[in-house]
Parts: sequence; C-alpha cells; structure tokens
Amino acid sequence: MKRHATMEVSLGNFGTDIMSEPTYETSSALFERATEYLPGGNSRTTVWAAPFPVYAASGEGCWLTDVDGRRYLDLLNNYTSLLHGHAHPVIMDAVRGQLDIGTCFPLPTKSEVDFAELLCGRVPGFEQIRYANSGSEAVMIALKAARAHTGRPKIAKCEGSYHGSYDFAEVSLDSAPDTWGNAEPKSVPYSAGTPQSVLDEVVVIPFNHPEESERILRANAAHLSCVLIDPLPNRGGLIPATREFLETLRRVTTELGMLLIFDEVISFRLGFEGAQGAFGVTPDLTTIAKIIGGGFPVGAVAGSRDVMAVFDPRRGKPLAPHGGTFNANPVTMVAGQAAMTLMTQDEFKRLDLLGDRIRDGAAQAFADTGVDGQITGMGSLFRIHMSSTPLIDYRASLAAATQAPALARVVQYLQDNGVLIAPTGLGALSTPMTEVEIDHFLEIFKSALLHNATRSAA
Ligand SMILES: Cc1ncc(COP(=O)(O)O)c(C=O)c1O
Repeated sequence: MKRHATMEVSLGNFGTDIMSEPTYETSSALFERATEYLPGGNSRTTVWAAPFPVYAASGEGCWLTDVDGRRYLDLLNNYTSLLHGHAHPVIMDAVRGQLDIGTCFPLPTKSEVDFAELLCGRVPGFEQIRYANSGSEAVMIALKAARAHTGRPKIAKCEGSYHGSYDFAEVSLDSAPDTWGNAEPKSVPYSAGTPQSVLDEVVVIPFNHPEESERILRANAAHLSCVLIDPLPNRGGLIPATREFLETLRRVTTELGMLLIFDEVISFRLGFEGAQGAFGVTPDLTTIAKIIGGGFPVGAVAGSRDVMAVFDPRRGKPLAPHGGTFNANPVTMVAGQAAMTLMTQDEFKRLDLLGDRIRDGAAQAFADTGVDGQITGMGSLFRIHMSSTPLIDYRASLAAATQAPALARVVQYLQDNGVLIAPTGLGALSTPMTEVEIDHFLEIFKSALLHNATRSAA
C-alpha cells in the first residue's frame, strides 16, 4: 500500500526535507505488521485512517517527524492534549528528575498535593480534586459521584456529545435520523451489545435547545442525578453552548437537586479558569484530562467540597469508593505541574490570539477561494467544516458532515504537504507556535481548498 501526492505549495524554510513525491513506505510496512497482532492494526479507534495511518517517530516543539522521516507542523497535539508541543525542556526536566527517584509507589506522594493546590488555586469551582488516568475514567467517576451524592440512578447528557468510553456516557453519541426520534431525543446505543438497562438510565437532551431540555429534565427529575455537558463539544461541531442554554441548565439542576457536570476534558484549554471561567457558569463537578497531564496519561474530577466528600474514606467506606493503581502517579503529577505552571494567564491570552488568527485566516481562505465551508472553535481550538450550513446543534452538524469526502481530501492534502490536523477537521495550537507557523498553515490550507475545488470540479 502506498500513498502518493505531489507538492503544490512552497514550504519556505519549513519543509525542505519533504520529498516532492511523498510516500509512506515505512508506515505501510509497520501497519502490515500491526494487523498481525492488533485488531485491524489499531489500538485507538480515533487514529484510524484509511488505507493505513502514518506512524510517528518523534516530536520536537510544534513539529512531528514520521517513521519515513517526513516532518509535519503538528496542529493536532495528541488530540488537543499537548499544550506545549513535544518534549518541552521544562517538562522533560521535571519528568527526568522523577524517573531517577521512582515512577510509582504504593503510597501517596507530595506531588499530588502540590498539583492539587495549583489547580484548586486557579479555578474557583475546584475546591477539591481526585485523579484518575484518562478522561473516560474521570467522566465515569464523576457520574458515579453524582449518583452517590444524590441517591438517584439516571444521568442526562446531550445528543451527539462525546465523553469517552464509559457505557453510560456513550449513549446517543452517534444517533442518526433513523434512530434519534422526533419529539425528543431517544437513547441510542453506540457500542453493539449495550444493555437496554444502560439506555434506560440515560436521558438525552438536545444541545443548545434550552426549553426542550428543561421540559425533559423536569419530566425525569425524580430519577436524575446529574446533567453532563461539554460546553464546546467537538463531535457536535466544536460550536459553543449558548449562554441561555448553560444558564438554563444551571438554574434547573439547582432547583431540581441534580448536579451540573462540565466535561472540560478538551475545553479546559479555554482559559486560566477553564471553560467555566470562559463561559461564566460554575458547575458542581468538572472533569478534566489531556492538558493537565503534561503529555502523560491523566484524568481528574474536581468540584465542591460537599460533593467531593463522596470519595472521602476517613469515616469508613466512602459513598463512592474509587481505586486506581496509577492514580496520581508522580510522573504524571510533576509533568502536569510543570505544564500548567508554564501556562500563565499571558500564555493563555497569546494562544487565544493565535487561535483568532487561524480562525480569521481560514474564514478568509474560504472567502477568497469561493469554496463552501466554515471554521468553528474558541481559544486555541478550531475545526474546519466543508459546508456553510449554520451549526447550532448536533443534528445540524451531522447534516453538514455530508461533506466528509471534501474534508477528507483537504485533510489528506494538508498531510501530504506537512500539516497534521484530525480527520474530523479538529485542530489545537501549542505554545511553541507563533504567527509564523499559523501563517504557514494558512498558506497550505488555502492551497488545499483550491486543490479540493479543482478535484471536485473534475
Ligand atoms: C470531551 C471529552 N470527554 C472525555 C474524553 C475521554 O478522554 P480520554 O481519551 O482521556 O479517555 C474525551 C477525549 O477526547 C473528550 O473529548
């Protein structure tokens, strides 16, 4: 298997070692081996790309090198988790210091206390924090905490929102017109074999529809422990929740005795106080992961002292017992501490301005080329859509996804020309970037749109 493409843009000083007829021979050979030992050659559904994925070899700053020696401007940053790009020297020093004295212990370490103090000192909604090893686990323990705290079994979530791989959080992730129901969203299984009992415990609300959501929450109030919401859901098109929607959820959950949980696994990037600071709404619990690990596996749930008491073991078995061999392991803790310490208020602002530059520039590229499309996102996050259909909720963004072949062509063109974004069009910035790298992306992006226009006209 081979991929071929022809370089069509000038790469200035960046891409001098990129071949004019790029091939991916070593990746192709690795994939062949991988299919022998890994199902479909894959360990992570997200990174699958047909006919085979490109394999990474190394990274430095905002650049990534693949196993064939080709360099890419990395605008994906391990799906938004690398705030400082690859191998940041300060983070690497912190990790090396820890490696020399032990990587994990059957006892807690000072590093978890230091890091908890830093995070709780930043976000007013974080009085206490509990660590896990992934965003999926963070969501799982947040939902269990809500059930334990309220004594109610059900959870509510938004149609089309991704929250990781816990069965309950996966419900209605990819509901489609033939299954999603008319009057109100139905609970639709994502993974084959999802028990009906799981579907029965998940109430689905429509993102950015405050009145309908309020009606559904009131109708199920007696059994609902919480509402789980990502205020900037990537799978929903990376379109922000409206102020009215979030304020309605805050008011209704408080009145009905449910917890409001923000899933900020991606959107904690939105500022020094995370998405809740950016949106001005304080949830009861927040799940975070990705950027707080400094490049290492991590997850956490944070919230008010009152709710977090469900994990407190001091008076015997907690309401929500929670173990985890690598929870708060010191390698992740010191990496996270270094990464978040580097991320000052000024750095958040600088990255946000670069985010504005990339979104404005990409919108201009659509206008200049006459190609149908739009760019969504906030802060240091962006997502490219090859359709100008207004995106307000999951159903609208699903309709716009009919442009998937056009997006696939643009993403492939970017990759063949040394720029990495997600197959879904998602991208995230990192602090080693400056206006120079953003403009480099925009130049290649404009060329990708022209190339796509030529291909689709042919
Ligand atoms: C909003 C959201 N929640 C939860 C998760 C799951 O996090 P993890 O992949 O660390 O399990 C993700 C992952 O992308 C996410 O985007």
